[in-house]
Amino acid sequence: MRQVNTDRVFVKQSYPVSEKDIIPVLDFGPFLAGDPGALARLGQEVCQALEDIGFFFIKNHGVPQELVDRVFAENARFHALPPARKLSVKVDGKGIGYMPPGLQHPKYKQDEPARKPDIGEAFFIGREAQSRSRDAGAPDPLYQGGNQWPEDLPGFRETLVEYFDAMEALSLRLLPVYATALGLPVHFFDDAFLHSRPMGILRLSHYPETPCEENQFNASPHIDGDFITFLAQSEVPGLELRTSEKKWIQAPALAGTFLVNAGEILRLWSNGRFRATFHRAINRSGRDRYAIPFFYSPSPDTLIACVETCCDADHPPQYRPVTVREYTEWFSHKVFVHLKDKPGRSPYYAGDRPDSAA
Ligand SMILES: [Fe+2]
Repeated sequence: MRQVNTDRVFVKQSYPVSEKDIIPVLDFGPFLAGDPGALARLGQEVCQALEDIGFFFIKNHGVPQELVDRVFAENARFHALPPARKLSVKVDGKGIGYMPPGLQHPKYKQDEPARKPDIGEAFFIGREAQSRSRDAGAPDPLYQGGNQWPEDLPGFRETLVEYFDAMEALSLRLLPVYATALGLPVHFFDDAFLHSRPMGILRLSHYPETPCEENQFNASPHIDGDFITFLAQSEVPGLELRTSEKKWIQAPALAGTFLVNAGEILRLWSNGRFRATFHRAINRSGRDRYAIPFFYSPSPDTLIACVETCCDADHPPQYRPVTVREYTEWFSHKVFVHLKDKPGRSPYYAGDRPDSAA
């Protein structure tokens, strides 16, 4: 096993963890400062991490810790409200607002064993109508606007919008890194994000201290359905991920960093070369746990087809091309009770995985 160094994080497990299942810590400082050679180096590191474990930490990412701390505080403040106040902004048909307990009940395959709904509640926002200067034309509820805000909670909205904007700015800065990681021109992803209507979701999760029962979770084992996910580090751990050897390991909590992982959209784009790793959340701490993941995806009309650097005669495309909209709708339908059985969805909405037939 490779010697663990300061740039890799190892949590003691009850069995050996292979070298490629150690989560690397990548320093984004030199890249964000524009140092020569930093982009190429970082692209290589991201490539390695996503081919191996599918997760990496980033440090020196430029998002102020005091802002992250304020979002965690607002998360706890919101979920401490009486149920009636939270339900005044109950989650709508687009998945925005407060999701009470019981509505997250993933079932990805018909033959999966029956499982109780996940334990927890959450509050979701998308891009605010007045947010940043990303005017991409006519209003689109998937793109911006439509957030639901509780009344009489001063500072809540402002803090969340500030964080959303900071995370979107960071996401956009990373596009050249992802393009470089795939051996593509640095502006490869610009059309899908910068020049269109990318989708961002900020989720404020609350996992109560209540222990999970047998075969029950705070977040059932899943892979993310987006392009990239950022998880700000909480002092209460609870995330677990599945290694290449199909063993579950705890993700360490590393203060001041983001834990970053690839979702299905990046996996499909890379023809399966970049891993979208199974993970789950179980709060074993005996106290409340809060999480503030930020999910980022390309414009809904983006067609995800294997990029040319990830397929050749020996590696033909494994999946048929699919739009982000098709995939996202399928994914939402499988996870959230309130997003099931909506009319007007794409033809793939209720069927098999939209990427299943290459
Ligand atoms: Fe996830």
